[in-house]
Amino acid sequence: MTIREKAALAEKAARAAGDMLRHCGSFKVKRKSENDFVTEMDFKSESLIRDILLGACPEDQFFGEETGGAAKACGRWIVDPIDGTANFMRGETEYSISIAYEHDGELVIGCVFCPVFDEVFLAVRGEGATCNGQPIHVSGTNNSRDALVHMGFGHRNPALLRRTLAVFPALISAVSDVRRSGSAAYDLCCVASGRCEAFVERGLSLYDYAAGYVILTEAGGRMTGWEDGEDAIATGNLIASNGLVHGDLERLLRG
Ligand code: IPD
Repeated sequence: MTIREKAALAEKAARAAGDMLRHCGSFKVKRKSENDFVTEMDFKSESLIRDILLGACPEDQFFGEETGGAAKACGRWIVDPIDGTANFMRGETEYSISIAYEHDGELVIGCVFCPVFDEVFLAVRGEGATCNGQPIHVSGTNNSRDALVHMGFGHRNPALLRRTLAVFPALISAVSDVRRSGSAAYDLCCVASGRCEAFVERGLSLYDYAAGYVILTEAGGRMTGWEDGEDAIATGNLIASNGLVHGDLERLLRG
């Protein structure tokens, strides 16, 4: 199967899971740890996506938020079956399904589906990014004073939360405004499609940002770590932006 065909498969799996989530009725919720929940639907969504992807590509490996799976492999799907579980379980609108494909260690496909908005963000490495089939690009705003910044706070980890809150006053004073959506995959798509200029959060997991990273970079955006020289893909500490306000944000967040 070609990478293009795999991207179409990712979209098919994400849409199938999204349709199930939109029409699922009531479900059980469990607390994984402080401020961290998982619903019965996270497992059902992951299992449906896994069956569709591995049914068509049995040679591939699978790594999902709820069931884990293979570390690096020649071909590996990286899946967050509901990114924004806390929103989903309360009936909030901002949650997404995130599916990435990694080939020989490189992230080459990103697909993020937001069921409530009926929006599929899709990118294949080297081919650009789209939203519902239309090309998308990061915004042309180059003045960080005018930047709208989406932000997560690492709220489940007290040390991360403290470090993030320490830079918050300087950040919100220097930009136009700050938003918290509750779905990192969706946040990255907002930067990719020019709805905001940047998204910053520490302590994310690969399945939260793998797909969004491909979409963002194919839409002309940039992603680095919070520390100088830090590899954001490896650590999950992300500064993601339209590229034009990136330097200003790095200076602000690195203090
Ligand atoms: C969470 C969301 C949220 C971010 C958390 C993530 P989940 O993913 O992306 O925006 O702040 O750090 O864990 O747990 O809903 O899949």
